[in-house]
Amino acid sequence: MMNEIIKINNVSKSFGSFKLKNISLEINEKEIVAFLGPNGAGKTTTIKLIMNALKKDKGEIDFMGSPIKQNDVNYRKHIGYMPESGTPYEFLTAREYLEFLIGVYGVEKTKTKEKIGEVLSIFNLKDEKKHIRTYSKGMKQKVLFLGAIIHNPKLLILDEPFNAIEPQTAMLMKNILMEMKDSGSGIIFSSHVLEIVEKLADRVILLNNGEKVGEGKIASIKEKGGLEEFFKELTNAYQVDENTEKIIEVIKS
Ligand SMILES: Nc1ncnc2c1ncn2[C@@H]1O[C@H](COP(=O)(O)OP(=O)(O)OP(=O)(O)O)[C@@H](O)[C@H]1O
Ligand SMILES: [Mg+2]
Repeated sequence: MMNEIIKINNVSKSFGSFKLKNISLEINEKEIVAFLGPNGAGKTTTIKLIMNALKKDKGEIDFMGSPIKQNDVNYRKHIGYMPESGTPYEFLTAREYLEFLIGVYGVEKTKTKEKIGEVLSIFNLKDEKKHIRTYSKGMKQKVLFLGAIIHNPKLLILDEPFNAIEPQTAMLMKNILMEMKDSGSGIIFSSHVLEIVEKLADRVILLNNGEKVGEGKIASIKEKGGLEEFFKELTNAYQVDENTEKIIEVIKS
């Protein structure tokens, strides 16, 4: 029996006509879960509900076996969160940002200036004067990733972590995530890149129109025809050829 780190029970949230409906899922120790679904399916909304960054309409979330109460922020110390885009702290340098976060997480004693400098230099971010605000898209993503992992969290929640990341850093990030998983963390990441998902994830959860429409182990999905087929089948994405013709006709007219 796997140990659940987080368990989401029948969580719902409405934004006007969009409804995230009765989402239930769990993330266990020592596993990497990929969170898939078309644009607007509700992945980021679900992630923000887990982070208490949005107020849910109904449902419960348990962290390490206990329900998370409203306004409870303590459990967040055990979570690393990489948002889809941006941080409110863009006026800091990468070093200041990481030092600020390790202060918040209460692990500043174990992470020296030297260690932080080494991490930044490996990620090619060691410019002491540059504010995050002035970074390129991929550089910003790297800082957000480092901010999520720096305190060695039990649970990692990454919203499109590989978006805009150069190949060598993507490889490094995948290795880091696999090491963290092997040492007991649970990881969920949203992605549209099925090749990465196939390599990295143990299990996938698929959303469509605010509903969970599929879930399965990568190994068994591969046996049944692969991730692309799984995605197409469960999100009714069959009309690609037909739609290509329609669009070409419009742009050529
Ligand atoms: N603050 C908000 N106010 C109103 N509607 C919102 C808000 N946040 C999200 N939505 C709506 O909720 C739906 C789901 O959005 P969400 O960002 O969760 O999708 P997603 O699955 O993360 O998509 P993507 O793959 O493009 O990142 C969309 O229709 C979006 O417009
Ligand atoms: Mg999103």
